[in-house]
This record gives sequence, C-alpha cells and structure tokens, in this order.
Amino acid sequence: MRGTRTHAEHAVRGLRESRGTRNEEVVPVSGNIFDKALGRATLFRNKEHLRHNHQPTTLPHRDREIEQLTFNLVEALNGQIPSNMILYGVTGAGKTAVTSFVCNQLVEKGRQIDRDVFAITVNCRQIDTQYRVLTHLGNSMLEAHEVDEIPFTGWPTDRVLGELVKRMEKRAGVYIIVLDEIDHLVRKAGDDLLYNLTNLNSSLKAARCCVIGISNDLKFTDFLDPRVRSRLGQQDVVFNPYDADQLRDILVQRSSSALHPEALEDGVIGLCAALAAQEHGDARCALDLLRVSAEKAEHEGTNTVEIRHVRTAQSQIEADQITPVVRSLPTQQKLVLSAVLLTERSGARGVQTGEVYDVYDQACHHVGKAPLTARRVSMLISNLDMLGLITARTVSRGRYGRTKEIHSSLPPNVDAAAIIQASEPDLEPIFTSKYRHQSRL
Ligand SMILES: Nc1ncnc2c1ncn2[C@@H]1O[C@H](COP(=O)(O)OP(=O)(O)O)[C@@H](O)[C@H]1O
Ligand SMILES: [Mg+2]
Repeated sequence: MRGTRTHAEHAVRGLRESRGTRNEEVVPVSGNIFDKALGRATLFRNKEHLRHNHQPTTLPHRDREIEQLTFNLVEALNGQIPSNMILYGVTGAGKTAVTSFVCNQLVEKGRQIDRDVFAITVNCRQIDTQYRVLTHLGNSMLEAHEVDEIPFTGWPTDRVLGELVKRMEKRAGVYIIVLDEIDHLVRKAGDDLLYNLTNLNSSLKAARCCVIGISNDLKFTDFLDPRVRSRLGQQDVVFNPYDADQLRDILVQRSSSALHPEALEDGVIGLCAALAAQEHGDARCALDLLRVSAEKAEHEGTNTVEIRHVRTAQSQIEADQITPVVRSLPTQQKLVLSAVLLTERSGARGVQTGEVYDVYDQACHHVGKAPLTARRVSMLISNLDMLGLITARTVSRGRYGRTKEIHSSLPPNVDAAAIIQASEPDLEPIFTSKYRHQSRL
C-alpha cells in the first residue's frame, strides 16, 4: 500500500513539475501511473498472512492451551454443558487466535456429526455495554430470513435477556459465548453481564450455554462479585508470554506462507523475535515488525529484507505508537512536555524540576493559560514519565533537598513539538516565543 501510494505521488509530482518548468501543454504520461507499481516484483506471497486477523492453521507453542480448551469444550459435542472458563494473558499471547481456532474446529466437528453447537464471539472492547452485547448475541442468532432485530436501544435489559433465551431455545443446541477483552467491559460497566450470562442455563431447557471470558488483565477477577467469579472461573487457563525462541518459531511458520522463501536475510526473523520478546513476548508486535520490515524492503526495491529494514521498521512502529499518545495529552500535560523539550532544546541535559517549571510558567504566559502550582506540575511530570514520554529520576542535592532529573525519552523521529502544535494550534506560540533560561546552580 505505502509503496504504491508513494509511486503514485511521485508520478503526480513529476507531472506537476513538468508542467511548471516547461510552461507548455501537459505531456500525457504514457500508460497508467499504476502500471509500474503493479508490475514490480514483490517479496510477499501473501501479505494477509502476516496480519493480526489472519487465522493460522497451526499455532506453535500453544498445544497445552489448545488441549485444555478442547478437553472442556468436547462436552458440547456430547450435548453436555462445558465449564465456563477464563483465559488470561498479556496482549499478543495468542488468546484470541487459540480460542477462535478451537471454536472453529468445534463447530466444524459438530456439523460433521450432526450436533448443534454454536460459537459466538463478541469483542467487548468494541461492543462495550451489557445492552449492546446482549442485542449482538440475540441478533446473531437470527436466521437469514428472520428480520426481527432487537433494537439497539430502548428495551429493558430483562426483555432483551428474555428474547435471547427464546431464540436460543428455538434453535436448541449448545452455545459457546466468547467474550473477548471482557476486562475492558467489566472495568467500564461492571459485571452484570457476566452475572446474567452465567445464569442463563437456569432459564434454558432445550439449549445449553457456556461462557468463555478472555482477559488481558490478570487481576481482572478482582473487579468481580465473588459469585460471578466462582461461576465464571470454573476453569482458568493462563497464557504465558512467548519467549524469543517461541516467537521465532511463530514467525518462521507465518512467514513461510506470507513471504517468498528467499526474501529474508539471515537474522531478520531472529531480530524481530528478540525485539518483540523484549517488549513483553507479544506475537502481534513480532508480526508487525516483520511485515513493516518487508514493506520497507519492498518499497526500496531490494531483493531481500535486511537487518537495517527491521531497525527502520522498529522506529517507525514506535513513532506510530507514540504520536497518538502525545496528540491526546490534555493541554496542561502538553505544556509541561513542551517545557521539557524547550529546556533541552536550549542545550541543557538532565534538567531539573525547577528549570522545567520556570519554562512552563513562561510558556503558559505566552499562550494565555493560568499556570498550575509547582506541586501539580511535579505530578504531571510523573505522569509523563509513566506514559514513557520522559524519564524523571529523583536525585538528592544534599542540603538543597531532592529534585528530579528529567530527560525526554522521545525517539528522534518523533517531532513532539509539531504534533502538539498540529493538535492544538492555540499552543503554537509556545514554540515561537522567547524564553529566559535559569542559570544553573
Ligand atoms: N502460536 C502462534 N502461532 C502463530 N500465530 C500466533 C500464535 N500466537 C499468536 N499468534 C498471532 O499473533 C497475533 C496476536 O495474537 P492474539 O491471539 O490476537 O493475541 P491476544 O488475543 O492474546 O492478544 C495474531 O495475529 C495471532 O494469529
Ligand atoms: Mg485478543
């Protein structure tokens, strides 16, 4: 995509330039501007296979987890109710991929041996209220010819639940309800949904239901009522983060169908795996690194993905992650971050809280905002530290007390000043005004 777009841009720019310099009729470009981009050799066999939502047919290093799910869910094929489950693990540990793999196999087997087994997955980060989850479940049980949608607002919860039960009973069979990223919904809206869904079997006769909750947060059950906790957590499965060797195997497997066999220089997969293992063993992060590295190589027109492409990909991905964080900071946080940047820009390294406050105070003045107290600013500094935008280390200055030594930790390819100005034009004067800088003690 990126490569194609850039080619098109080049072609258009070329066209404009030829118009400007020769000052004559536009010479039509021979052929279509996409011809060259289309005809270019590609390193990818199937780029989709490196994307997150691609469902691989084998999941290395998840045999134990697959086995645990299978062992429990096989009950559905026997017409029994499988235990409810909670799956935990950091992001990118393969929870969603494993669950959808197992559920697909289950439904397929059900079809083969003529058992009614249904699996419905709801992503509770996107569908994040009890009402919406229930309507989603109810509406996904409609056959194509039925049009009685449950409305997206307006009904009391009891009525939606009643309708859900009615529809399940009508079709009968065993329902596996997967609530992915359930920690998100529970934190936002409480555990009523889980209470109601784990209680459904008491209203069901012909149908059966089992709930699988998937959480990125290991402490998520702290938010649950003990009754819900015990009903949902009949079986817990913990997905440990992948280590570098495991990530390497995953990348080898995914890249075998995604890239041409000769496309990768030695060490590329190892480096992507090592970098992702350093983060927190996130397979998604490893896949992103490999995909973006290959895109970089392809864009450059080289025959293989090289180590340096991984490095470039890493810094691009990092910048893409940080940019929205800076953009969405509240105004006062932007002012404090700007003050750190301005103090560093003046040549100071390892600046102290007092110096940052001094520049912050002037910056507020330049943009007509009331400055906060030094104490509040110190808290905002800690917050920026937590977000990973700066590092603030407490140092002792002997009898002068303690202060913080502050460094920006933004990667060099992130222009925070530009992001701040673009997101809040009112703050532009911060970067164009003059400052008095404190003399160092
Ligand atoms: N063992 C594995 N083998 C192949 N791909 C994997 C494996 N584990 C995770 N993935 C892939 O990594 C990405 C992230 O996994 P996902 O299941 O979404 O993680 P989680 O749900 O735990 O955050 C997905 O593209 C998934 O297909
Ligand atoms: Mg997931």
